[in-house]
Amino acid sequence: MSGLIRFGVSLDEALLKKFDVYIKENKYQSRSEALRDLIRKDLIKKEWTSGENVTGIINIVYTHGIRALMAKLTDIQHKNHHLIISTQHIHLTHDDCLEVIIAKGSSVRIINLAAELKSLKGVKYGDLSMAGSVKSSKNHKGERR
Ligand code: NI
Repeated sequence: MSGLIRFGVSLDEALLKKFDVYIKENKYQSRSEALRDLIRKDLIKKEWTSGENVTGIINIVYTHGIRALMAKLTDIQHKNHHLIISTQHIHLTHDDCLEVIIAKGSSVRIINLAAELKSLKGVKYGDLSMAGSVKSSKNHKGERR
């Protein structure tokens, strides 16, 4: 693992003020920590737009009373068994279920899988969280604030 490298960043005052507000709102401990996360976020976005192998978390909320929907959801997931590494089903309320599907593979395929699941009639909510594999230390030891 490589060590920390310090470098200076020049920002105009107005942008720095906005950045400090962002840091406060997101409860970052330091400007460096916030900057690192923003860089990682952008690199992850790049991975997702370039069709690379990524990990995504798909959340869907649906009514379990619709049997045809349950069958469709299962069919789609089995069709994509090579992509899906884990699923968790939570009985959210009397009527609704939350399913968390973790998929690993081509970003294009994961985006398509999420779109297919979200668009089904009876799915009330759907979301794809784009997780990343950017290798960078989260260790802040030795960092000055
Ligand atoms: Ni359920």
